[in-house]
Amino acid sequence: MSVEILQAKAVTKRFGGLVAVDRVDFTLREHEVAGIIGSNGAGKTTFFNLLTGMFAPDEGAILHKGEDITQMTPQQRVARGVTRTFQLTSTFDNLTVTNNLVLAYFRAHHKSSMWNLLFTRVKRFHDEPKILGILETFDLLTVRERMVKNLSLGEKRRLEIAMAVLAEPEVLLLDEPLAGLAESEIKGVLDVLRGQIGKQTILIVEHKISHIKDFVERLMVMHEGRVIAEGGYEECLNHPEVRRSYWQIDTDETANA
Ligand SMILES: Nc1ncnc2c1ncn2[C@@H]1O[C@H](COP(=O)(O)OP(=O)(O)OP(=O)(O)O)[C@@H](O)[C@H]1O
Ligand SMILES: [Mg+2]
Repeated sequence: MSVEILQAKAVTKRFGGLVAVDRVDFTLREHEVAGIIGSNGAGKTTFFNLLTGMFAPDEGAILHKGEDITQMTPQQRVARGVTRTFQLTSTFDNLTVTNNLVLAYFRAHHKSSMWNLLFTRVKRFHDEPKILGILETFDLLTVRERMVKNLSLGEKRRLEIAMAVLAEPEVLLLDEPLAGLAESEIKGVLDVLRGQIGKQTILIVEHKISHIKDFVERLMVMHEGRVIAEGGYEECLNHPEVRRSYWQIDTDETANA
């Protein structure tokens, strides 16, 4: 069995009287691709924020490879190399795709001087195998010299995820990476994510179960702060409590019913 990278132990988060996350246990192992689904307000993003350190839990603990990181800030977790969310990778809209990737790469791997890079040879890094590889993997080669502000939403989303991946985090956390995208763009993003399977540990939060059906190995279904099912796709979909609470989950099956 591979290494347990992230663990949540009975974490609870309240907002006033509302229990947004209710004693959730969760384990993410190396190179696993897991998904969290659930309807609006189920607690998915809040749970995610407990993993990234955006919120501290009211109860319970978050562990990284067995070490308690519950009190660490998001910055400390990123610096430790634990997590990276694509939302945290802000792009520079007036720079090209390649220059954004170079900056993301430099920021992650040469911690000291970004100025050094800016004043010297950004161009030199254009041919860095890592940058070329990521342009290819994320299907960005044809737009490599385009300003980010001129990208389509799908291309921009792929760039954001590419920038997160360049930092080589142990866990790539994606909260609704498909939000706002057209169907054709969704396919593009899922294709590039599929290319990360086996190389990268991924936790993806998604509304539409049908989108991540062929992508995740394991699902956790949340409802009103609690985990109501965990396991494979079919197993979760057929779980009585999921069927009861979740008729509104958007699946191909229910959409066609
Ligand atoms: N910062 C906050 N302050 C107060 N209440 C919050 C806060 N963040 C979330 N909540 C509440 O906690 C509950 C869980 O919200 P959360 O955003 O985690 O759900 P979600 O599963 O991500 O939903 P969605 O699918 O809409 O993104 C909701 O009732 C929400 O209103
Ligand atoms: Mg959410």
